[in-house]
Amino acid sequence: MATDPPIRMFLSPPDVGAEERELLLDAFDSNWIAPLGPHVDAFEAELAAYVGASHGVALSSGTAALHLAMLVHGVQAGDRVLCPTMTFVATANAIRYLGAEPVFVDAEEASWNLDPELVAQELTTAAAEGRPYAAVVAVDLYGRCCDYDRLEAICADHGVPLIEDAAEALGAVFRGRRAGTFGDVGVFSFNGNKIITTSGGGMLVTEDAEVAARIRHLATQAREPAAHYEHAELGFNYRLSNLLAAVGRGQLRGLDAKVARRRAIAARYRDQLAALPGFAFAPGADDEHQPNAWLTCLTIDPSVAGIDRETVRIHLRGLGIEARPIWKPMHLQPVFADARTIGGEVSARLFEHGLCLPSGSSLTDAEQDEICTEIRTVVEG
Ligand SMILES: Cc1ncc(COP(=O)(O)O)c(C=O)c1O
Repeated sequence: MATDPPIRMFLSPPDVGAEERELLLDAFDSNWIAPLGPHVDAFEAELAAYVGASHGVALSSGTAALHLAMLVHGVQAGDRVLCPTMTFVATANAIRYLGAEPVFVDAEEASWNLDPELVAQELTTAAAEGRPYAAVVAVDLYGRCCDYDRLEAICADHGVPLIEDAAEALGAVFRGRRAGTFGDVGVFSFNGNKIITTSGGGMLVTEDAEVAARIRHLATQAREPAAHYEHAELGFNYRLSNLLAAVGRGQLRGLDAKVARRRAIAARYRDQLAALPGFAFAPGADDEHQPNAWLTCLTIDPSVAGIDRETVRIHLRGLGIEARPIWKPMHLQPVFADARTIGGEVSARLFEHGLCLPSGSSLTDAEQDEICTEIRTVVEG
């Protein structure tokens, strides 16, 4: 069997520059190497200000942020939490870390995001049965916000906390508000494939000073202010290091340019591929949504295109170009085989036909043209 060549065009590689290097060296030279330090405080303040939130808490990952967001909003062992089946596994894992049970909701055909109608129906049924949900986690899939007008209203009606998993959506806007600021708390990820990266890291943003303080406390081993290391409750080692926060500050300064570049890449893919038979792009910008275009995704209907998603993906991979299927839905993952799912057909179909194309902000026009030419070549036989 022929082996694939090394990847030369990654799906979403880090894009770092001189500013990050300078800030990292500043952190290094100041000897604030150990966890916490001035860059952590500054990164929290700067990111919170960017999205328009009052408080930010920098953490070791987006997953850690989701875990603590749910914990602080009262999710406990045995509780049920609604979340989309169409997401990355971290969303559902964090529910399980608390001993709670994820109940998966299908994607809405028109948005690929959590279907608000299904959420409303399920919360109403649960309330009538006297088994209310402990939380709803909404995911801004591939950098496009959910319909928060509806989700915020539904969750408020039922008194259920709403957690926004904006891991993929930093820089996106819905109705003039930035991703991360919807619901009770917002969560970002800075892992290596995100729009900005600290190599690994996350941030939680909130309007509630008490929530921020409590998350900070829990993320610092729940250490009480005593010289002898006093701990009154179970804590976690979840803070972001000062070195990584320095990188994050540099990345944040370039965020608007990175968003603009990803949007340009998305537009160029549309220009070059939208007319191909059976190709349909993921929902993009409209009057309400300005996605950050983290990844450009599309579906390929094999009955129209004459080829399927895998044919395209494998062809590109053979040329050292990394494209990936859409997230495999949680209800199809063996680890969640025993979880309940409401619907699931839309997500299953998106997974079957969906492809994410190289979308990194450092992708050049020439590289993108090569990708598009290769895709057209496969389609046209
Ligand atoms: C939707 C979603 N939620 C959560 C995460 C977890 O973030 P992290 O990798 O920083 O833990 C990611 C990305 O990894 C994600 O895509």
